[in-house]
Amino acid sequence: MARKTAARPAETFPTPAKLAITLTVNGVAHKLDIAPWTTLLDALRDHLDLTGTKKGCDHGQCGACTVLVDGRRINSCLALAVMKDGAEVTTIEGLASGPNLHALQQAFIDHDAFQCGYCTPGQICSAAGLLAEGHAKTPDEIRELMSGNICRCGAYPNILAAIQTVLDTESRSAPERDGEAQP
Ligand code: FES
Ligand code: FES
Repeated sequence: MARKTAARPAETFPTPAKLAITLTVNGVAHKLDIAPWTTLLDALRDHLDLTGTKKGCDHGQCGACTVLVDGRRINSCLALAVMKDGAEVTTIEGLASGPNLHALQQAFIDHDAFQCGYCTPGQICSAAGLLAEGHAKTPDEIRELMSGNICRCGAYPNILAAIQTVLDTESRSAPERDGEAQP
């Protein structure tokens, strides 16, 4: 007959206190008191009501949550907000300049580069990061460097065309800018 073992008292763990952090989002500084396990994605959506950034997989697999942190694109579902204390965050809501859409936003409209639109904020933020990185020159390089952003509607050809258009415009204007810089 199995011997009964005395039940151990349930262990209790103290709940970590909320932490005070500052995030500058789209140029506006926000002070937040948040639980240490809050992701940057949840901080944006649930604490700042910036719901343009989407939660797809919540596991770093789909890219729907892509934002720019200090100019670099990241999956905001994989970053704890407390790790980004003091950072500058740009979301899809912050890409336009007043009434003027960001070139990528306009190109996505012009090329009909979405269907349901759920992946679009992440696609555009990721493309903005890709352009800033300056590594993509060809369609294959764009495909490769955008491969972390999944589109369940399969709008890939139009997404590629939109990004390529902005890339081409930027590379055409770069020599002109360089030329202007010459003495
Ligand atoms: S929600 Fe972050 S990668 Fe899918
Ligand atoms: S447009 Fe629907 S998931 Fe990309």
